[in-house]
Amino acid sequence: MRILITGGAGFIGSHLCDKYTKKGHNVICFDNFLSGNLLNVRHLLDYRNFKLINGDIRNVQDLEKVAPNLDVIFHLAAQIHVDRSYVEPKLTYDINVMGTQNVLETARLYDINRVIYASSSEVYGSSQYVPIDEKHPLCAPHPYGASKIAADRMCYAYAQTYGMDIPILRFFNTFGPRQRDLGYGGVISIFTRRVLSNLPPIVFGDGKQARDYVYIEDAVNGYDKVLNHKGQIKEPLNFGTGKAISIINLASMIIELCGKKGQLEPVFVDPRIGEIKNLIADASKAMKVLGWAPKYVFKDGLAEFINWYKKYGMEPRITL
Ligand SMILES: NC(=O)c1ccc[n+]([C@@H]2O[C@H](COP(=O)([O-])OP(=O)(O)OC[C@H]3O[C@@H](n4cnc5c(N)ncnc54)[C@H](O)[C@@H]3O)[C@@H](O)[C@H]2O)c1
Repeated sequence: MRILITGGAGFIGSHLCDKYTKKGHNVICFDNFLSGNLLNVRHLLDYRNFKLINGDIRNVQDLEKVAPNLDVIFHLAAQIHVDRSYVEPKLTYDINVMGTQNVLETARLYDINRVIYASSSEVYGSSQYVPIDEKHPLCAPHPYGASKIAADRMCYAYAQTYGMDIPILRFFNTFGPRQRDLGYGGVISIFTRRVLSNLPPIVFGDGKQARDYVYIEDAVNGYDKVLNHKGQIKEPLNFGTGKAISIINLASMIIELCGKKGQLEPVFVDPRIGEIKNLIADASKAMKVLGWAPKYVFKDGLAEFINWYKKYGMEPRITL
């Protein structure tokens, strides 16, 4: 298969590049290195079936260069940080909405029938009920979430209008090796960096806000189930474990796994504007449609992540 992975030098995309390159598919990793890292894919450069392209989804010509003869696009490229979306809402919109529109339109014009879209649980906003199923209203309170809603709905519209196969995957918080803290970042990498640097984790509000964490191997397995699914997936699918981990619990686990119990305690500061209280998945539809189920116990995944972070997490980023 000829596979294009937008955002392929990022955290999740690079794991997909690994999987499909090592399986022998022809993989094009397409990334503008906004948050991507050459360290994530450098080891694949020796494979003849792997190609790294420095391209931007905001630029149609960049996409047209790689579009001929593709079988499938995994579309993950995005400005993913909620905090950054507050200060750069236009950048977030241009990449996440207009960039997605470019990917969809290129796919349509080049007869690429399949685009697997990385939507997000952030589309739901603060939960009106838990666990959150796919029928939950989409009411993200921040520019990042709003941009993901627009792109998610545009994918749906393209599938309906043009009969294209565009599975929409709504992953809950995904974590694991290669997730770095670049100033903005996932809470797990931010806490881990601070604790390993002998600094206390900073908790916004009372720390009772909870998330559903999916380990990267379970996420990649979810993508693979979608890729191998026979027939179109016409409705969005949630991917999560259904288990709630509060921020305060997360901070304690990271302190313990880093061997700093009794030495560090979380510091509490004011709540963040627009922060979503609870995001816990009802992923029964993905389980039923795909036979997907998360295998990782959260704390085991966290321990693997921390081991990785100690070795590689603080290496300076390399870009093209
Ligand atoms: N990490 C999570 O918890 C999570 C959860 C749900 C959904 N997602 C979605 O999964 C996708 C990947 O997230 P990630 O965690 O790997 O983030 P990431 O920041 O590591 O990866 C995003 C990649 O997109 C690239 N990119 C950004 N703008 C681009 C552009 N204009 N053109 C080309 N490439 C561009 C970045 O350089 C980066 O390599 C995103 O769409 C995100 O919204 C992530």
